[in-house]
Amino acid sequence: MNKKEPSRVVSGYFRVKDKSKEEIQNMFSAAIDNGINFFDHADKYGGDHVCESRFGESIKMSDDLREEIYIQTKCGIRSWEGGDYYDFSKEHIIRQAEDSLKALHTEYIDSLLLHRPDTLMEGEEIAEAFETLHSTGKVRNFGVSNFTPYQVEYVQKYVNQKIRFNQIQFSLVHASIIDNGVCMNTVFDGAIDRDRGVLEYSRINDITIQAWSPMQYGWFEGIFLNNDKFTELNKEISLLAEKYNTDPIAISIAWILRHPANMQAVIGTTNPERIKKSAQAMNIELTRKEWYKLYSAAGHFIP
Ligand SMILES: NC(=O)c1ccc[n+]([C@@H]2O[C@H](COP(=O)([O-])OP(=O)(O)OC[C@H]3O[C@@H](n4cnc5c(N)ncnc54)[C@H](OP(=O)(O)O)[C@@H]3O)[C@@H](O)[C@H]2O)c1
Repeated sequence: MNKKEPSRVVSGYFRVKDKSKEEIQNMFSAAIDNGINFFDHADKYGGDHVCESRFGESIKMSDDLREEIYIQTKCGIRSWEGGDYYDFSKEHIIRQAEDSLKALHTEYIDSLLLHRPDTLMEGEEIAEAFETLHSTGKVRNFGVSNFTPYQVEYVQKYVNQKIRFNQIQFSLVHASIIDNGVCMNTVFDGAIDRDRGVLEYSRINDITIQAWSPMQYGWFEGIFLNNDKFTELNKEISLLAEKYNTDPIAISIAWILRHPANMQAVIGTTNPERIKKSAQAMNIELTRKEWYKLYSAAGHFIP
């Protein structure tokens, strides 16, 4: 059976460590019932495969249902007592993917991403790990997360499988990948290059950008909706929510989906009602003017 197209809104399982079986089942149903068929995990969410296990134990999946959905996970971040480090060795990638399969209660992973760049990475090791996981049918597709274009190029030089995804932080407020192009060569702060042209690189190379934390500002500082720091933005979002007869959550996500780079938005809400509202974004197409007005209201300078 062929799978349906992957949904452009993805349900992320970063925040489910303390959720009950029933709460996770309700999250999952809210996604499926509203057209979200793509689920994002990581080996490290909640601890050692903890959030993956919560999902695997809660969602008893028939073979038919498994074929209708996409399960993605990530590996490559390890911890010591005082912090994190990165490990893209062959042994670590294979072991983590195999442990993710067990935790998620699935025979295969639809996509495996390398979570954050390991500056000690060696292309040959990654290539061997990907080949083993792909040839044994354990992983169908591969991608990266938080990678610069040159880091993607480096990995792609070695691996036989196409790098299909790059998951990076992107929201109405955290939009440096846009600012950099819009303010190119000016004296304005937007011209500061934090992302090395990752937006344009991904479009040229057919790599899907997956926007993580679509509601957050800063480094997990909180959400921008109904936040006094973003009055102008919330005003503009509310006007559009009224126009499109939807919720501000959907407008915020529709802004990401409207970009012709064909991105996916990885939402993190654990609330079934908010999952449902997020899914409405897939049916909204903002006009060019609305898109730029939101961008400006979020505080980005348009020269
Ligand atoms: N690749 C990476 O490096 C990376 C990093 C971080 C995250 N991720 C992925 O991206 C996903 C999303 O990240 P995120 O969780 O930070 O995304 P988010 O969707 O921006 O934020 C979700 C958080 O905001 C709250 N929230 C959302 N809408 C709200 C509203 N209208 N009112 C009140 N609270 C609201 C949620 O609470 P409720 O649950 O109560 O709704 C939840 O705590 C994660 O699950 C993970 O899959 C990837």
